[in-house]
Amino acid sequence: TAATPRTILAAADDAAIAVAAAHLAAGDLVAFPTETVYGLGGDATNGRAVAGIYAAKGRPSFNPLIVHLPSAEAAARFAVFDPRAARLAAAFWPGALTLVLPKRNDAGLSDLVTAGLGSVALRVPDHEVARALLQASGRPLAAPSANRSGHVSPTTAAHVAADLDGRIAMILDGGPTAVGLESTILDLTGPVARLLRHGGIDRAALEAVLGAPLDDTPVTDDVAPVAPGLLSSHYAPAARVRLDAAAPRPSEAFLGFGPLPAGVTGPAETLSATFDLTEAAANLFAALRRLDAAGAATIAVAPIPAHGLGEAINDRLRRAAAPREGGG
Ligand code: TXA
Ligand code: MG
Repeated sequence: TAATPRTILAAADDAAIAVAAAHLAAGDLVAFPTETVYGLGGDATNGRAVAGIYAAKGRPSFNPLIVHLPSAEAAARFAVFDPRAARLAAAFWPGALTLVLPKRNDAGLSDLVTAGLGSVALRVPDHEVARALLQASGRPLAAPSANRSGHVSPTTAAHVAADLDGRIAMILDGGPTAVGLESTILDLTGPVARLLRHGGIDRAALEAVLGAPLDDTPVTDDVAPVAPGLLSSHYAPAARVRLDAAAPRPSEAFLGFGPLPAGVTGPAETLSATFDLTEAAANLFAALRRLDAAGAATIAVAPIPAHGLGEAINDRLRRAAAPREGGG
């Protein structure tokens, strides 16, 4: 696909949303805010638009994408909801939960969206701008995180522009995202609900509604066909990342949790001065980008508790610290 010569960056008012919907109808790509991270949206029924998403991100292969809908009713056209799925959708949609469900083959989704799988990942986002755009376009929107492949997900319009300017038609600016981590992905295609990705909704909340424990066998490259996008080094900043650091070594940048230790002189910030995991999740990706931009070769990261949203934060940090692949 030809590069889009100029990317429009616009505050997400009604007029901008109408322009964005027109771009989507034409098969062009629009980045938009959700409550989790910014998404790179394209019409999920238009193969050219979906192929353009992979090209703009520089994704090395056709990993399946999440399809975004304005409501659970709209979502029911694209997948089969069993009673578990219906209960979870009622409890958490709109919100930071993605459900992987048996795909309806007659609903017109591009095969590229599901990368040829028999399942489809669906989500109803909880963000005014995302919902307005879904309503205005009237289309299911395929939307991965709006970053170049291998980079951390964007939580501001400026992050999107840094990665995708000149490669997409438009960026709708809705300010920083509230949750700051991607959605939790739950696979309901088998008898036991399987946690494919920790995210904005924690395990305890899901298990309470399901009334059963989740299967959380870690998803890694080894089981790539299950969730091909979950590469172990998917969330990488340019700097090396050193985990569970009480304090930075000389020349390291430092990402703390709680008050910063005394005597730190290099680039440093805290995810939350008050040990608040929700605040830490919202700050994580922007903080990694800022510390990366400060130029240190290594970012040392303080230990983060492993409960609640800490599970998702630790998952992203482990991926950021994992050995890098050659390419992307
Ligand atoms: O919060 C989010 O989920 C954001 C916002 C924009 O909604 N989106 C997002 O999309 O994080 P993406 O493409 O970066 O991650 C989607 C993940 C990938 O790891 C992909 O492999 C997995 O979902 N996935 C999609 N469809 C799947 C399917 N049918 N079966 C298993 N995994 C699937
Ligand atoms: Mg992503």
